[in-house]
Amino acid sequence: MRFLSQLLRHTVTLTLLCSTVLARAETPQQIQAAYESAARAQAPGFAASATRGNDFFHTQHGQEWTCASCHTGNPSNPGKHVVTGKAIQPMAVAANAERFTRPDKVEKWFTRNCKDVVGRACTAAEKADVVAYLISAK
Ligand code: HEC
Repeated sequence: MRFLSQLLRHTVTLTLLCSTVLARAETPQQIQAAYESAARAQAPGFAASATRGNDFFHTQHGQEWTCASCHTGNPSNPGKHVVTGKAIQPMAVAANAERFTRPDKVEKWFTRNCKDVVGRACTAAEKADVVAYLISAK
């Protein structure tokens, strides 16, 4: 019982710590690191992978759309919303200096887009991989 409540307190502290780290992040690298440490709280050996992020971005996850449906197959190119046709600025950090500089915006769109593409929220590990991919994409 005592162990359980300590474990719970530890988990709550870690979760709070991770969301504080994310809220204070201002660069793509800091945002990526915040997701990576949140993922490590669940799986200690976790290391983000741009290759996995690339696969995740271009693969279907049981729904009709992929991330590339709106953001195109090349994240350095401008995208286009599949439904509204509205233009979307490039996702790659190299092509768009504003990407992954505002944690509130990043969380808002991960939440919305993961729901559409994956049918659930993305995990911290998935977000860490996707951001690693978009930082490395030329
Ligand atoms: C139905 C169209 C659509 C799909 C599919 C889609 N997105 Fe988006 N996404 C948008 C729009 C619209 C925006 C907001 C406009 C902008 O930021 O240029 C956006 C913005 C984002 C942002 C904000 C990044 C930042 O710092 O500005 C992230 C992160 C993101 N999308 C990730 C994803 C991921 C990951 C997937 C796949 C799981 C995905 N998106 C699929 C339309 C889409």
